[in-house]
Amino acid sequence: MLNAIISGCGGFMGNVLTQLIEKDDEVKAVAGVDNTPPANKAYPVYSSFEDCTIDAQVIIDFSHPSALESLLKYALERKCALVLAATGYSNEQNDNILKASETVPIFQSGSMSLGINLMKKLLKQAASAIGADFDIEIIERHHNRKLDAPSGTALLLADAINEALPNKKTYNCSRSGADSKRDKDEIGIHAIRGGTIVGEHEIVFAGNDEIIELKHTSLSRNIFAVGALRAAKFIYDKTPGHYNMDDML
Ligand SMILES: NC(=O)c1ccc[n+]([C@@H]2O[C@H](COP(=O)([O-])OP(=O)(O)OC[C@H]3O[C@@H](n4cnc5c(N)ncnc54)[C@H](O)[C@@H]3O)[C@@H](O)[C@H]2O)c1
Repeated sequence: MLNAIISGCGGFMGNVLTQLIEKDDEVKAVAGVDNTPPANKAYPVYSSFEDCTIDAQVIIDFSHPSALESLLKYALERKCALVLAATGYSNEQNDNILKASETVPIFQSGSMSLGINLMKKLLKQAASAIGADFDIEIIERHHNRKLDAPSGTALLLADAINEALPNKKTYNCSRSGADSKRDKDEIGIHAIRGGTIVGEHEIVFAGNDEIIELKHTSLSRNIFAVGALRAAKFIYDKTPGHYNMDDML
């Protein structure tokens, strides 16, 4: 049995993951961490990793970037694998994650969805064929509780496009005002927030007299928990390193 700690166990995704693990024969949730500790969990819950006395082989994190420092400290001290699903890390935090992955295995993905990761591949193909000549824009839509913008998935898709282009484009996430004509070397990223939208990502390649659009719609947040759980099973016994969906699929 694989022993896991759920970080952010009181949040929306933490609850979905808890329910999924309850039905899984290979994984057991041995503890949870949340700075707003929820009641009625079948495992002990701690308000921080500093207080957590329980060992596990893997932590699955759906919390917030503010949890990263204590999360990494715990994982490094206890040699515990880490699945980082939270989004919105700063560049400095991403550097710290890379450094920690020299000591423990860390799986990180801005999207744990299998469909999004397929779309990443399709986008690379499209970008290498026409990306230099077409204007590329990304429109993402999420529920009104989402904190970070643009979404981690939008950035992951933009990075995939950029990887396939000979000349890298910059990201424009705030087009507004009288002097905001589109730059040829940018990818515009637009964040729509409202209601209970689970997650939509639409990528537009706009050329002269023709447009290609690729769109992924998440109908339920279960898909992210399923991907994160699969990542936990994949990573817990790996050698130290920084892993993502490309390594797993
Ligand atoms: N990678 C993916 O596929 C994917 C999919 C869905 C959500 N996410 C990300 O997962 C995160 C959580 O999403 P959610 O919708 O469940 O949010 P949520 O707000 O419902 O849950 C977050 C939980 O983390 C807790 N928390 C916040 N800061 C903390 C800290 N410093 N220490 C401990 N606990 C802390 C909160 O109390 C809350 O219970 C977000 O970053 C979101 O973008 C990623």
